[in-house]
Amino acid sequence: MSVDLQSLERIPRHVALIMDGNGRWAQERGLDRVEGHKEGAQSVRAVLRAAAEAGVEFITVYAFSTENWKRPPREIDALMKLLISSLDAYERELHDNRIRMRVMGQFDRLPLPVRARLQKTMDATAHYTDHTFIIALSYGSRTEIADAAKKIAEKVKAGELKTKNIDEQTVAAHLYLPDVPDPELMIRTSGELRLSNFLLWQLSYSEFHITETYWPDFREEQFFHALEAFNERDRRYGGVRKK
Ligand code: IPE
Ligand code: IPE
Ligand code: MG
Repeated sequence: MSVDLQSLERIPRHVALIMDGNGRWAQERGLDRVEGHKEGAQSVRAVLRAAAEAGVEFITVYAFSTENWKRPPREIDALMKLLISSLDAYERELHDNRIRMRVMGQFDRLPLPVRARLQKTMDATAHYTDHTFIIALSYGSRTEIADAAKKIAEKVKAGELKTKNIDEQTVAAHLYLPDVPDPELMIRTSGELRLSNFLLWQLSYSEFHITETYWPDFREEQFFHALEAFNERDRRYGGVRKK
């Protein structure tokens, strides 16, 4: 059954996605894991289109975690190459829908050709303000928070900040993308019930939508269903249910 977007009362400003299950999708078909990643790259494109259509301002996708460096070199190499070719394929979507692309994570740890290709698309889309597509690459939330602690400590040392004035806003302001609002909705595919070091701070009050669907099968329709499920949630933020 298709979702009527007009009937949705609330559209989240920011949706974060843990794109999981590429390997299993491929293995179930007797294919190499890399084939699953390739098909998964098409899902990213579909989600970009769907998010723009629904009026979601920010999309963050978890593409490669700090822990994913532990994978076999062959798979890492394939993922990095795929990233480069995917950016060529996404370019059209980004311009057609006026989407700015940003990257979050340990940029310097990425291979030089990947960095160069990412920079090209970031520069080419930097002027768009309607939508933002954030790719979390070599991203780990614990590293992000530790890095924020370092930056704050430096400011205290330099006399720019007093220890007694450090509060939640201070920490949030020193994360990788402080100007981006927290996601209202986090989607994880392939049924795993964990965060895998993704946006620990930013997801404190987000709604979670876990679907059994493997990432390569997650397309427009599945994204709209997640928005529909989000509309059925009652977000209380520690308060009491509204009458
Ligand atoms: C997600 O799919 C993509 C990345 C983490 C890069 P996986 O590769 O984790 O697929 P499964 O979980 O092994 O099925
Ligand atoms: C999380 O998926 C990371 C990304 C989607 C990039 P993983 O497949 O790496 O996570 P675990 O190993 O199941 O926790
Ligand atoms: Mg996985």
